[in-house]
Amino acid sequence: MTAIDTQALKKIVAEKAVNDYVKDGMIVGLGTGSTAYFAIKRVGELVASGYKLTCVATSHQTEELARESGINVVPLCDVDHVDVTIDGADEVDPELQLIKGLGGALLREKIVAAATLEEIIVVDESKIVEKLGSKCPLPVEVVPYGHNRTAYALSRQGCEPVLRMKDGKIFKTDGGNFVYDCRFKEIPSPFFLETRLNVIPGVVENGLFLNTAAVVLVSHPDGTVTKMERD
Ligand code: 5RP
Repeated sequence: MTAIDTQALKKIVAEKAVNDYVKDGMIVGLGTGSTAYFAIKRVGELVASGYKLTCVATSHQTEELARESGINVVPLCDVDHVDVTIDGADEVDPELQLIKGLGGALLREKIVAAATLEEIIVVDESKIVEKLGSKCPLPVEVVPYGHNRTAYALSRQGCEPVLRMKDGKIFKTDGGNFVYDCRFKEIPSPFFLETRLNVIPGVVENGLFLNTAAVVLVSHPDGTVTKMERD
């Protein structure tokens, strides 16, 4: 069978997530990134076909795309919960633990995930790893004030923090913060690391999304989609 290109794999898995999990009348969280893009477009089609959905966005970029797609976006403060959120991830381990944030939206993504009853993660199989941190760095969002001191404290946790740049300038998140991409040789215990990172002054949020995903849908080069579920 012909291998399907990466964009098509993202579309297949994102659309399946929307088709399977988004029901008329729901409050839906819209993720950020190139896979979530296809989920947002599919949600837009459901709205155009008559679904009444209330949506919250995990970034400015997603909010803009959602509005362009005819979706009603409200602030998270206007809802008391989110029924289902569909979002991408950068790494997924066998226990459904995640690294997110290479797209820079980790803070809002984590806040929306915390308000969500069922977090659905959509990835192609290249994102599946045995151990978190084996393919990508861990993004950590920090306040700009004294950020190099915060980076030093991060390095003491066994990583090499690199300040994220974009178009020759320091990358800024929607919250006006900086991101350090922290390359670890290995992350033996994500739960322990998360605790250590969260107590560093200046750290706003980290890209470890632990016990967050209810379901991970994974697309494969032959076009099939498999499901990983929390026990
Ligand atoms: C953004 C994210 C994205 O979900 C993650 O980076 C995956 O993106 P993509 O689907 O483009 O690979 O966490 O902050």
